[in-house]
Amino acid sequence: MSLKIIGTGKGIPEKRVTNHDLAGFLDTNDEWIVSRTGIKSRNVCSHETLTDLAAAAALQALDKSGLRPEDIDLIICSTIGGDYRTPSLACCVSNSIGASCPAFDVNAACTGFIYALEIASGFLADEKTDNILIVCAEMMSKHMDWTDRNTCVLFGDGAAACTVTKGNALKYIDLSASADVSLLQVPSGTGNSPFVDEKKEYGFLNMQGQEVFKFAVNVVESGVKQALDKLNVSAEQIDLFLLHQANKRIVDSVRRALGQPEEKFPLNIAHYGNLSSASIPLLLFEMLEEDKIKPGDTLFMSAFGAGLTAGSCVMVWE
Ligand code: COA
Repeated sequence: MSLKIIGTGKGIPEKRVTNHDLAGFLDTNDEWIVSRTGIKSRNVCSHETLTDLAAAAALQALDKSGLRPEDIDLIICSTIGGDYRTPSLACCVSNSIGASCPAFDVNAACTGFIYALEIASGFLADEKTDNILIVCAEMMSKHMDWTDRNTCVLFGDGAAACTVTKGNALKYIDLSASADVSLLQVPSGTGNSPFVDEKKEYGFLNMQGQEVFKFAVNVVESGVKQALDKLNVSAEQIDLFLLHQANKRIVDSVRRALGQPEEKFPLNIAHYGNLSSASIPLLLFEMLEEDKIKPGDTLFMSAFGAGLTAGSCVMVWE
């Protein structure tokens, strides 16, 4: 079963932190961050919970699609960590917006949106499921070591949502997870069990940046080629490439390899940083708000993240 997206929404925390703000307490500077990543600022939670952001995005997506919470048959949240280890963020969103359908989280790191689309398409094949709410919400600020300039400058907090229903927009989807868990991780620790042999504390995000960079460029490029081959279309026939916003240099590198113009590769990383799984749906939301996506347009989406996971899909907009 394929699907189509019928509404999108966003939830962004109020507090905006510029590179200059970071330079006030870290050994970094605006020039380094902009030239190495393309990031100028990011928004981070101060008084908001992740549920607040996710619910705001969800309600906007419902509103734009003309659906009420009771019309939703399933809520899938993508997050690397909600407000609680349990209940799931999806249950918190359901509670907040007044829904009563099944709800669960998926954790595929930054690739979560593409994973959620594949899961949604499976559920929509069942006749009892008509409308699914996908919410990608990340509070990266709580996973960062704010004394580590290698990582904390890269990420931001935010949520983006979409409602999906039965349709034929999704033409191709491919997911993967290569087993290298060491390159990017947030350790969860062992708690205070007296029985554990080696105690481990909850840790902050650590990453081998250059290795992840190489993986990202390779996996996105090969993902595009595989999709084009499978659908028998050329890069020229793709109207927009909505790529995960981890580093502007990764997007530029893929664009150059494909020989395509800049306007086909929209960016929002300058204002938000890396929002993990919320990056692509937020970009989608913005493109729709700016009327830059029309029915019949062909969109390629691709993401990568901890795992290392990767995923790409092609949609012809309905
Ligand atoms: N400000 C100033 N200097 C910084 C800095 C910062 N915020 N962060 C690192 N540096 C320094 C390093 O300490 C290093 O200094 P040294 O040469 O004296 O040791 C120097 O800058 C170069 O660091 P390096 O790691 O080689 O930079 P880079 O060009 O590889 O860029 C990343 C680093 C993280 C921006 C880049 O590797 C990247 O984007 N990787 C992919 C990450 C990613 O996509 N993660 C998310 C996956 S979903």
